[in-house]
Amino acid sequence: MVQIDLSGAQQFFTQAGPDYAAAARAHEVLSSGSGLGADFTGWLALPRNIRETELDRILAAAETIRARSGALVVIGIGGSYLGARGAIELLKPVRGEGDPEVFFLGNGLSADALCDTLTKLGDRDFDVNVISKSGTTLEPAVSFRIFRELLEKKYGADADAHIFATTDARRGVLKSLADANGWESFVVPDDVGGRFSIFSAVGLLPMAVAGIDVRRVIDAAIREMEALDERSEANPAWQYAAARQNLYNKGYGVEILGCYEPSFRFMAEWWKQLYGESEGKDHKGIFPASVEFTADLHSMGQFIQQGPRMLMESIVRFNKSRFAWNVPFSADNADGLNYIAGRDLAEICMVAADAVREAHVEGGVPNMVINCSARDEEGLAELVCFFEMACALSGYMSGVNPFDQPGVEAYKKNMFRMLGKPGAV
Ligand code: PA5
Repeated sequence: MVQIDLSGAQQFFTQAGPDYAAAARAHEVLSSGSGLGADFTGWLALPRNIRETELDRILAAAETIRARSGALVVIGIGGSYLGARGAIELLKPVRGEGDPEVFFLGNGLSADALCDTLTKLGDRDFDVNVISKSGTTLEPAVSFRIFRELLEKKYGADADAHIFATTDARRGVLKSLADANGWESFVVPDDVGGRFSIFSAVGLLPMAVAGIDVRRVIDAAIREMEALDERSEANPAWQYAAARQNLYNKGYGVEILGCYEPSFRFMAEWWKQLYGESEGKDHKGIFPASVEFTADLHSMGQFIQQGPRMLMESIVRFNKSRFAWNVPFSADNADGLNYIAGRDLAEICMVAADAVREAHVEGGVPNMVINCSARDEEGLAELVCFFEMACALSGYMSGVNPFDQPGVEAYKKNMFRMLGKPGAV
């Protein structure tokens, strides 16, 4: 499990401190299925269920793709792509030998992004994994139509064999198309919303194609979900949920999630969706933003240190670095850096992190540190399970339904009307 250090937030809490009794109640509501959106709590058992149902087939499909293609095009948006992208960039920022390149499309409507990706794809053999629970989301649907045409031109009658559909078990356009064309398909379970679906085929198939050991991830996630069911103040999900709700009630309305590993960038995007879509409703919610340290200390650092005092900061730290690199000694010391010669860059980075934390706390920014074991399969499982559990608890503590997203429909209604979709008003 991750470990939380709240010592940098302590002085900012209300006198009563984090409300662990409320966290306990939220946990009971979640696990008993008596809360709002209880039909969408299937993610709690998802690691165990996927191991018993689709995991073998996901691994077999991934092997097929890895054996025959240099690339996989993943078409999906929101919860149908951010988990996979976050995991792949975190664990496989550099492709290993034989790993296909994974491209993400259908997460916007940019013709330029589409063409740039096609250029990068070149004439490589490729497969397509189209992911949409509803099957009707415009962005992935448009990209998929384009890629079906490309596949047909490239592979003719074999095009269908290059399509893998991840969608609802029974309903929707994509499910009907998959059945009609014989595409291999995987399920987004009914009781799992998009942003909680990383441990279904939604996340696991692209991850496995990229060369991540998804069986290791799932085995670890099963253990994590069990551990996070602990009903006590020692539960890091309770600590994080209760701390951020306490700070929110004190007026800290924005949370910045930071990490000192650039490869964490898309995990932060995944986190933003998870928390933003789960909590931002009924005119309530903590606005989730992200920063990449130390780079953003030279762009956003000034605002964090001295701007309006509305920010709380959560920093993900990995206890172990994958690599070490000592700063070389220089005989003439012309750059004046010999005072750190011989020291490991990873160690210097942690000193910087401690220095930043001290400065931000002194400047009035509550700081929470989320310590994760390592940037590996187990570490990924730790982070995902922890953030999902804490998100559900935090949402229930603030009185919202953490599992719906009614506000997402507003722009779609206008867009369909403006595009002239039949029946749109
Ligand atoms: O979390 C969610 O439910 C959303 O972000 C969806 O994943 C996103 O809107 C894509 O929906 P769909 O998978 O139906 O295309």
